[in-house]
Order: sequence, then C-alpha cells, then structure tokens
Amino acid sequence: MANEWGPLWALVGEWEGEGGLDTSYSHAKGEVVGTPYLEKVTFKPFGPVDNGSQHLYGLDYKTAMWRNDEENPFHTEVGYWLWDSATGEVLRGFVVPRGITVLAGGHADADATTFTLTASVGDAQYPIGEGKYLTANASSVGYEATITLGDGTWSYAETTMLRMKEFPDLLPHTDHNTMHKVG
Ligand code: HEM
Repeated sequence: MANEWGPLWALVGEWEGEGGLDTSYSHAKGEVVGTPYLEKVTFKPFGPVDNGSQHLYGLDYKTAMWRNDEENPFHTEVGYWLWDSATGEVLRGFVVPRGITVLAGGHADADATTFTLTASVGDAQYPIGEGKYLTANASSVGYEATITLGDGTWSYAETTMLRMKEFPDLLPHTDHNTMHKVG
C-alpha cells in the first residue's frame, strides 16, 4: 500500500521541530528579522481520489508554528499533498490564513528523498492566489519549497518572494525546519 503514496509516504504521522527559522519583514519592528519557531505538523493519508483515469493518493495536513512561549501560533497552514504515480507529479495545495492559497507542483520519483515544489502568481498550472490587500501591499509572486526525507526525520527549506510596498526589490521571505517524528 505504502508505494501508492510514493515519496509522500515518508511524511505520514505527527511531527515536531523546534529549530525553525523564519525571515520576514516585521511591521512591528520596521525591519527584516529572523524569528526562531517551534512547529507541529500532522499528515494523514487518504486515497485514491479518481479524476477520470488519474488516481491520486494524498495526505491531508495541518501545521502550526509558535514563537517563544506564545499561546497562539503565529503561522498556520491547512491543505493536501498529492501524488500521481503515473506521472510522478507532486502537488501541495494549501491555505495561509492571510488570504493566500497556493497550489505548488513538481515531480519526484516514487523513492525520491528530495523534491522541489514551485508556484507563482498568475501561473496557469501552479498558481498563488491572494486577496486585494496583499496584491497591493505584500504580494506573494513566487514560492519554492525543497523537501528532504530522512529516517524518522524530514526537513524543508522554502522561499516566498514578496513584492512589498516597503521595498523597491523583491524580498525573499524564507522558512526552514527539521521535523522529528512524535506519533
Ligand atoms: C513556515 C512558514 C511561514 C512562516 C513561519 C511565516 C511567517 C511570517 C511572518 C512572521 C511574517 C511577518 C508579519 C509581520 O510582522 O508583519 C510574515 C509575513 C508574510 N508572509 Fe509569511 N510565513 C510563512 C510562510 C508563508 C507563505 C508560504 C506565504 C505565501 C505563499 C507567506 C506570505 C506572507 C506574506 C504575504 C506576508 C506579508 C504580510 C504583510 O506584510 O502584511 N508566508 N510571514
């Protein structure tokens, strides 16, 4: 059964990582800052989902990140990761509750230990959608995430390129963490 999820099977379960680091522009501080974070992620397998002759197997996921001893997470995502064994296409569709949706895509072999997913604003295949405020003030023009799978561990490094009204050039908003299995 596990092979039907291809490279995604390694992600099934509950994970924690306390070595996260976010780099973004802080409106409170008026500068770009690095913020360490604790993250908790859950992936649950499902499938198949049949689109005609296409058979997808996926994970539903939710993740949340906390700074220091804050009670409420400062960043969350919910969504689905999907694998199409016929083509090797990997999809990650998720919502960031700032008014952003992302459908990132890429390709990976079934036994891949690393793969990269990308999305960009206006892209017909793998788009980023956002609300009007963000388009005017802090638009997510590109997204790239590289996932590396290990034994009882996995990690990600991702960059969201932001067009922000505070800066003449695009600002890389980066996040990375290494997750350890807890369930
Ligand atoms: C681990 C993942 C992420 C974390 C921890 C994170 C965290 C943050 C933080 C701390 C800020 C600064 C808010 C402020 O102080 O004003 C921020 C801003 C922002 N993030 Fe993220 N982020 C993550 C992923 C993403 C992704 C995947 C996207 C979009 C695809 C995104 C889009 C944005 C945007 C548009 C802003 C600017 C909001 C504004 O300037 O008003 N972030 N993020």
